[in-house]
This record gives sequence, structure tokens and C-alpha cells, in this order.
Amino acid sequence: MSKEWLQVKDLRKHFETPKGDLRAVAGVSLKVEKGDSFGLVGESGCGKSTLIRTVLRLLEPTSGEILFDGKDIAKLGKTHIRRLRKKMGLVFQSPHSSLNPRMTVYDTLARPLLIHGITKNKRDTTIEIVKLLKLMGLQAEHMIRYPHELSGGQKQRIAIARALAVNPEIVFLDEPTSALDVSVQTKILKLLDFAKQEKQLTYFYISHDINLIRVVSNKMGVMYLGKIVEIGDTGTVMANPLHPYSVGLFEAVPDPDPDKKLPELILKGEVPSPVNAPSGCVFHPRCPFAWEKCEREEPKLLKQSDQREVACHKYS
Ligand SMILES: Nc1ncnc2c1ncn2[C@@H]1O[C@H](COP(=O)(O)OP(=O)(O)O)[C@@H](O)[C@H]1O
Ligand SMILES: [Mg+2]
Repeated sequence: MSKEWLQVKDLRKHFETPKGDLRAVAGVSLKVEKGDSFGLVGESGCGKSTLIRTVLRLLEPTSGEILFDGKDIAKLGKTHIRRLRKKMGLVFQSPHSSLNPRMTVYDTLARPLLIHGITKNKRDTTIEIVKLLKLMGLQAEHMIRYPHELSGGQKQRIAIARALAVNPEIVFLDEPTSALDVSVQTKILKLLDFAKQEKQLTYFYISHDINLIRVVSNKMGVMYLGKIVEIGDTGTVMANPLHPYSVGLFEAVPDPDPDKKLPELILKGEVPSPVNAPSGCVFHPRCPFAWEKCEREEPKLLKQSDQREVACHKYS
């Protein structure tokens, strides 16, 4: 099997807005290997959710390729997309809005099992649901509950169980714990990690929270204004970020390791609008190192070592 199992190539998703062409995803390339826990970090509005929704074909790509298991998802017809959905799970940020308030936990979990023909009768469905609940640290008795009878953390565990019900190969997790208390977050991340080992899953996390990405991922990307500016091994990128934006972004967050010192770089200014984004390197108006080339020419993601690629003229 090829190592690059999910590969996105120059993917774009533009929205037509009254103000003009909004480039939410402006040419993203990345690779995920089977068994990875990939983490994409970036500030709110940089295009993370749009990227994964486009990869899942919940949104139509403007251009680019999405290769998964040797097929180009960007070109698949409706029937094939349905089959593909079974292999790709999605967990949203807010469990409050993603669960149907009128459905019991049983019905919520039975639905994907029956639709995808994983179970064929009530007995098997119930057995499977009990297994899923156990996997998420819940009990069989939670089956008869409605969402309003559950805590936020329990709801999110049900949403995760629902995504796992169809035995997906990869699960996309869109800020899966940001609506929850810190103690609940930790518990859910542990359960997710356990489920990953149990079911040999691949995860694709997206979050604005650097400390979350640090904990959950082995590979990571840093996204800014619709583009990946740095990508590589989480340990390498976190310990020694190269792109000036990564440096500024990580600096804004207290590191759990008090001895670690990052080079001093405070981000100046605001994130510009993705409508009429800056020319050349999209980060140049905020970058303390920018020179004339940065205004003119878009830097490509270039390999700096086996562990990392950076899109910055300082390193090209
Ligand atoms: N359906 C849409 N129509 C127009 N603009 C959108 C739509 N969805 C997202 N956007 C815009 O695309 C950009 C990226 O949004 P999003 O992917 O939600 O970012 P993130 O998940 O990183 O916070 C934002 O500027 C947002 O306003
Ligand atoms: Mg989002």
C-alpha cells in the first residue's frame, strides 16, 4: 500500500460573496498516512472547517485533487461519494447542535448501522450499540436517553460513537472538545486515543488550540488565510517552528514546558480578509522579515528536512 493514503493536491474552495471571491481554501497540499493522527492548527476563519468539508465532498471543490485510497474524491459521482462516506467519519465542534434532540441515543446510533447494513436486526444493532457505548466509556443504560438528559461531554461521546459506528478508516475531528470544560476535554481525548488503537483508525484533527494539537497529533500543519505555511512532524514543528507565522502563533500561547524559549516574535496587525487576500506571500503585511520578493512572489512549501516543509522566502 502506498504510504500517502490521503493526499490533497492544490485544493481550492472559493465562495462567491457580495464583496467578491472569498478564497477560504487557497491551494492546500498535504498527505496523511494510515495510522497518523494529523493535526491542523490555525486561527478562527483561516479555512480549516472548509478544508475538511471539501475533502469530505460536503462542499464542492473549486479545483484540485483529493486522492483517497487511489481514487480522486474530487471527481467522484454521488453513488461513489456515499460509499466513501462510510470510510470517512466526521465529528463536529458542538454536540448540542449535531445530535437530533428528538432521537434517543439508541436511534442516533442505530441509524448509521442500519443505513450502511452493518447490522440487520434489532438484536445485533443493540449488541453493537452497547459495544460503542462501552468504547466511549458509557453504559448500556444510556441507550434510552435523549440528548437533553446528557451532559455536554456525554453528548460529544455519543457524537463520536455515531461517527465510529460504521467502522470508518479516517475520522475528521473539527474542534471536537472546544465546547467542553478542560477536565472533560482531557477525558474525551483519552477515549479518542483508546478508540484509535482499538479500531486502528486514522485521525485528522483541526483546532485553533495549539496545545490540543501538540497533545493529539504526530504530524501537523499550520494554516494561515487558506494556505498551509508549515507542515511536518509535530515534535519538530513545535520545538522549532520556522515560518514566522508559526513562531508568532505558538508564542501567543503559554507552553506547558516553562524552560522552552521561542524566538521573540509578536504578530502585528490583524488577519486580512480572505477576499482580496494580500499578493505574494499572504503573510507578508504582518511579517517582520518581509522584503520586496514576499509581496511579489508566492512562496512554495519546500522541504527543509525529512520532518518538515515550510512556505517562506526566508527558507527558499
Ligand atoms: N458558506 C460560506 N459562504 C461564504 N463564506 C464562507 C462560507 N463558509 C466559510 N466561509 C468563510 O471562509 C473562511 C474560512 O472559514 P472556516 O473554514 O469556517 O474557518 P475555520 O474553520 O478555520 O474557522 C471565513 O472567512 C468564512 O467566513
Ligand atoms: Mg471551523
